[in-house]
Order: sequence, then structure tokens, then C-alpha cells
Amino acid sequence: MQDALPRGGSIRKLWVAHAELYRDHLLRLDLESRRSRFAGAVSDQFLRDYADIAFGIDAIIHGFFVDGTLRGAAELRSVGPAVRREGEAAFSIEKPWQSHGVGSMLLDRTLLAARNRGLKFLHMACLADNKRMQQLARKYGAELSFDFGSVVGEVAAPRPTPLSLLREIIADGHGFATAMFDVQSRLLAG
Ligand SMILES: CC(C)(COP(=O)(O)OP(=O)(O)OC[C@H]1O[C@@H](n2cnc3c(N)ncnc32)[C@H](O)[C@@H]1OP(=O)(O)O)[C@@H](O)C(=O)NCCC(=O)NCCS
Repeated sequence: MQDALPRGGSIRKLWVAHAELYRDHLLRLDLESRRSRFAGAVSDQFLRDYADIAFGIDAIIHGFFVDGTLRGAAELRSVGPAVRREGEAAFSIEKPWQSHGVGSMLLDRTLLAARNRGLKFLHMACLADNKRMQQLARKYGAELSFDFGSVVGEVAAPRPTPLSLLREIIADGHGFATAMFDVQSRLLAG
């Protein structure tokens, strides 16, 4: 899967310890990308404050790294009452790394995480004129049915399976034995 990424790039989950890297990544976004990501012009201070709170409860953030520098990120968080099983996803990729397949790989990992958490609807924080984001979502038409009028995508088969859990755990870089153990405990917990 990592083969489809630009040379030297890798995707891994971010934790609260990565907050500074996340802040620096957001600050490097050009004006247009900031506007697309946050639905409006935002200041450096806004981005600093945002990075401080982004790792709150329930956030799953995948990061795209090149040589140790965070160049892209995808946030997934559940929104609304748990029973509605709705989540929100938002993407940010620094300009030189846009249109190189990174968004596609991040969406792939985000969808897997959404599915494994039983999320059924995914809201995309996406402006109506963001053609690239819309193209990207359309590529995943088999897994995500989209209504851009309301900017809500429906995740197909929103139930974790042993295979989908295993894919996520292995993508997180754990060994196979740990992965199997984790799958068993998550299925039992579900
Ligand atoms: C929108 C964004 C996440 C897309 O990620 P990306 O890595 O640039 O996109 P990808 O290279 O994976 O391309 C996805 C699809 O978009 C389309 N696309 C790519 N570049 C494009 C361009 N310059 N113009 C129009 N469509 C384009 C293609 O259909 C492409 O799929 P394909 O190459 O397999 O045909 C990224 O550009 C970004 O972070 N932009 C700034 C912030 C933002 O807009 N966030 C989204 C709202 S939260």
C-alpha cells in the first residue's frame, strides 16, 4: 500500500505527542489549502490553537511523513450522538505533495478506521467548490456513496470484520501475533 505514495513517504497514526509536528504542518499550508481545509481564511494563531486541541477524545489522525516531516494529515472523529454513528473527516496536504496520490491513501486509511469503529455516515468538511476533494471521494464510490448537496458520504458495510480490523492493525505496524490478539479482543468487546 505504501508503494503508491511518493518516494520516501509513509503513513502512520498520530498521537498527542505529535501535536507540535501537526502544528508545524498546518502552519506550512498555503493560503488556498488553509481555506479549503478550514472553510475560510485562518490565522497562524488559529492553527496553533487548533493543533493543541485536535488530539482530543475520539480523534483518529493519520499522518503522511516524508523523511520524518509531517506533510499531510487526515482527521476522523465521531460527531453527534453515538447511536447515529456519524463521523467527520478532514484532510490537509501541503501543496508540493498534492495530486500525488497522498489524499487517496489517507482516505483509504480513514475509511478503514471509520468502518472499524462502526461509523455509517462520514461528513466531509469540504467546500462545494473543492473539485479535487470531490474527485477523490468519487474514486471511493464503491466504499462511500456521496451526496455533495449535503456533503455526507455513506460508508458501505460499516461493520468491522476480522479482516478489516487486521488490515488496520497491520497498517499501524504491529506484528502479526499482536494483531491477531487485538482482533480477538476488539471483536469480543464489540
Ligand atoms: C483535497 C486533497 C485532500 C486531495 O488530496 P491529493 O493527494 O491532492 O489527491 P490525490 O492525488 O489522491 O488525487 C485524488 C483525485 O483527485 C483528482 N485530482 C488530483 N489532482 C487534481 C487537480 N489538480 N485538479 C482536479 N482534480 C485533481 C484526481 O481524480 C485524483 O485521482 P486520480 O489521480 O487517481 O485520478 C489535497 O489536495 C489537500 O489537502 N488540499 C488542501 C486542503 C483540502 O482541500 N482539504 C479537503 C477539505 S477537508
